[in-house]
Amino acid sequence: MTNIAVLGGGKMGEALLSGLLKAGQPAEALCFTERYPRRASEITDRFGIRHLELAGATSVAELLVIAVKPQDVEPLLGELAGSLRPETLVVSMCAGLPTALFERRLPVGTSVVRAMPNTSMLVGEAMTALSPGQHVTDAQLDQVDRVFGTVGRVVRVPEAQQDAVTALSGSGPAYFFYLVEAMIEAGVALGMPRALASELIVQSALGAARMLRETGEHPVVLREAVTSPGGTTAMALRELERLGTRAALASAIEAARDRSLDLGTSYAR
Ligand SMILES: NC(=O)c1ccc[n+]([C@@H]2O[C@H](COP(=O)([O-])OP(=O)(O)OC[C@H]3O[C@@H](n4cnc5c(N)ncnc54)[C@H](OP(=O)(O)O)[C@@H]3O)[C@@H](O)[C@H]2O)c1
Repeated sequence: MTNIAVLGGGKMGEALLSGLLKAGQPAEALCFTERYPRRASEITDRFGIRHLELAGATSVAELLVIAVKPQDVEPLLGELAGSLRPETLVVSMCAGLPTALFERRLPVGTSVVRAMPNTSMLVGEAMTALSPGQHVTDAQLDQVDRVFGTVGRVVRVPEAQQDAVTALSGSGPAYFFYLVEAMIEAGVALGMPRALASELIVQSALGAARMLRETGEHPVVLREAVTSPGGTTAMALRELERLGTRAALASAIEAARDRSLDLGTSYAR
């Protein structure tokens, strides 16, 4: 059991805390900081996790997860530099910010891991990519792997790939939510009650995801298997191609990657 402090009780901080609790981490081994008092009470009331000031969190944490927005990192690092214990392992979930920024601003030799999880930590189905900073040992990386492994899958990637990871899986759940929303609206436009359209689409999404994972087949193979010549699926796919859906997705993901790079240059001084 590792004592974990999460700095920032926003959406991702909450998703991690709640995912860790569901995975069996005791609430006594978790704490968080949050500058907005009402939000702090909400999390404490909901999960029974201690809300601490920064100094309290750094004094107990073996693993400290930074879950504030990239633009809030600079002032936080200023405060953290004075109170961080040298043996504390720091994990940043901040989009776009390189480990070198944290290493520069925190005490010399601090171990920093860059992690890009996604919001599906809430249901134990996150995809997290980890990249170690220059002082991280194999044992420390294994430790972070185990923590994020309790809330989903973990891969290790060279840090140069983290902006692409952010664009693919960091933001990925939102693309699927968008797609599902658009399909439900299409069902409503065909005269279907919204709740029924939602049930049809959500279960289809879940089934498709499980088929991809459990068969290990390439998506083209699975798609071709349900595309009869001249049939309904073939007509739908022809429309998706005609409207440039594939190109739209490629350009959306490139835009997300570019935004992650921008965050790095704007906030990593
Ligand atoms: N959202 C995603 O899907 C996703 C996926 C992967 C990674 N991330 C990364 O995760 C991080 C958090 O994102 P989020 O969506 O959870 O943002 P968020 O909901 O805005 O949460 C950040 C929280 O931290 C609080 N905060 C800011 N400075 C603080 C400080 N010095 N001490 C304590 N609390 C502080 C904020 O308070 P205020 O409300 O008062 O500002 C806010 O409640 C970001 O760096 C983002 O890049 C997000």
